[in-house]
Amino acid sequence: MDHQTSHVLIFPLPLQSTINSNLQLAELLCLAGLRVTFLNTNHNQQRLVGNSNVESRFKQYPGFRFLTISDGLPDEHPRTVEQFGDIISSLQTMAEPFLKQMLSALVKEPVTCVILDGLFYYGVDIGNEMGVPVITFDTISPSCFWIYLCLPKLIEAGVLPFKGNDLDALVTHLPAMEGLVRRRDLPHFCLLDYKTDQSSQAVFKEIERIPKAHGLILNSFEDLDGPFLSKVRSYFPKTYAIGPLPLNLKTRLDAPLLSSSNSMWEEDHTSIKWLDAQSKGSVIYVSFGSLLVVSRDEIMEFWHGLMNSKVKFLWVMRPNMLKGDVSYDQFMKELVEGCKGIGYIVSWAPQKMVLAHPSVGGFLTHSGWNSTLESIIEGKPMICWPQYVDQRVTSRLVNEFWKIGLDMKDICDRFVVEKMVKDLMETKKDEYKKSVEKLSKLAKLSVQEGGLSYSNLDCLINDIKGLTR
Ligand code: UDX
Repeated sequence: MDHQTSHVLIFPLPLQSTINSNLQLAELLCLAGLRVTFLNTNHNQQRLVGNSNVESRFKQYPGFRFLTISDGLPDEHPRTVEQFGDIISSLQTMAEPFLKQMLSALVKEPVTCVILDGLFYYGVDIGNEMGVPVITFDTISPSCFWIYLCLPKLIEAGVLPFKGNDLDALVTHLPAMEGLVRRRDLPHFCLLDYKTDQSSQAVFKEIERIPKAHGLILNSFEDLDGPFLSKVRSYFPKTYAIGPLPLNLKTRLDAPLLSSSNSMWEEDHTSIKWLDAQSKGSVIYVSFGSLLVVSRDEIMEFWHGLMNSKVKFLWVMRPNMLKGDVSYDQFMKELVEGCKGIGYIVSWAPQKMVLAHPSVGGFLTHSGWNSTLESIIEGKPMICWPQYVDQRVTSRLVNEFWKIGLDMKDICDRFVVEKMVKDLMETKKDEYKKSVEKLSKLAKLSVQEGGLSYSNLDCLINDIKGLTR
């Protein structure tokens, strides 16, 4: 079949991080000559079109178009992580009829393949009904995805729900992770009543649908997640590990710098100017991603820890990041004045450029999967303060498996922050740097011709090109 008639519909979760990874994938498919329709919610599309970089980049691809759908929520809805369950259930009501219409063979440009987030499990059923193969793209870490697949066995074996309150107890019945993962390292909902929790219910439905999907895409590479990828493949052989996506894209674009930004917030480039004036490896970059909401007290613990460490820092504090009734402007004014000479605060940074900057020596992160991969690409060790889903197991692996940083886990204490910052940036710097730089090299090799992420991407593209209606 002529691949010019291949038409992929991409439908990401309505989050900055997933839109980011899915746009990277979309660009890779466009570069391979495929036609791509990218389905975004109206709310996120409005924020994305403010980013001229995205518009101008995708204009180059005649086969690419954005399509939008309402998420069914009123404009004033805050859409923070705390309401994530509402967002996905409301979007489901809108997306089900929309997908049925979109996947009809009678439309002008019939869709030959759908790529959607695994949490949109209903899309797999609709695709099968309409005769359109569906590939799920899970943007979380492969280790967490493997834990998801093990959940039914954990329940069957009586491991879940946990008995007793020992969060440090090692979790059994988790092949490839025995002796490594404790209860506190599992996705947060394993510690809740997962039978009633909305997000865990969606995960259970997702893993039930996986065998009905045509394929699975994961954003990682063999040298990083080999043991977990091979476990996932034993369950679902058609798993394409094509990450790290930003590097795969950079290679195929033959771009000198990893600058392609898919930000829905305006990036503050004064952060780069500030970094230019600092010495090599002297700055710790602090960012808790696009979703996390924190209290004033928690910020103050990090603040004091950072200030007491005397290590220079660049900190991203999003305007929608504060819990409770705190005035962002007033609070920021106080913090900015208090850290002159040591720290620099912005509301959103060009993160990939920041991590690539020679002045940055480490990253204090919430262990979101994109942030973790971006840090590994640039060979920057991490301190992890994880909260939700995959972040908890990722931070454990950073500390205990890859040995490229420190895991703070649930602790939020200025003395621990100070000690870990000093360890990462000074005392144990060489040790962590050596291991993360090794992974960075392997990541770069994996996306070069002959590397596994490179060939996995080719296999995925050929698979899609072979799909017909
Ligand atoms: C969420 C979950 O938190 C995470 O656990 C899961 O793996 C993916 O979904 P998020 O919290 O947004 O993601 O974190 P992360 O995956 O790290 O993505 C954040 C993205 O925003 C990164 O690509 C990062 O480069 C970008 N970013 C962040 C910026 O461009 N500028 C910033 O100032 C902060």
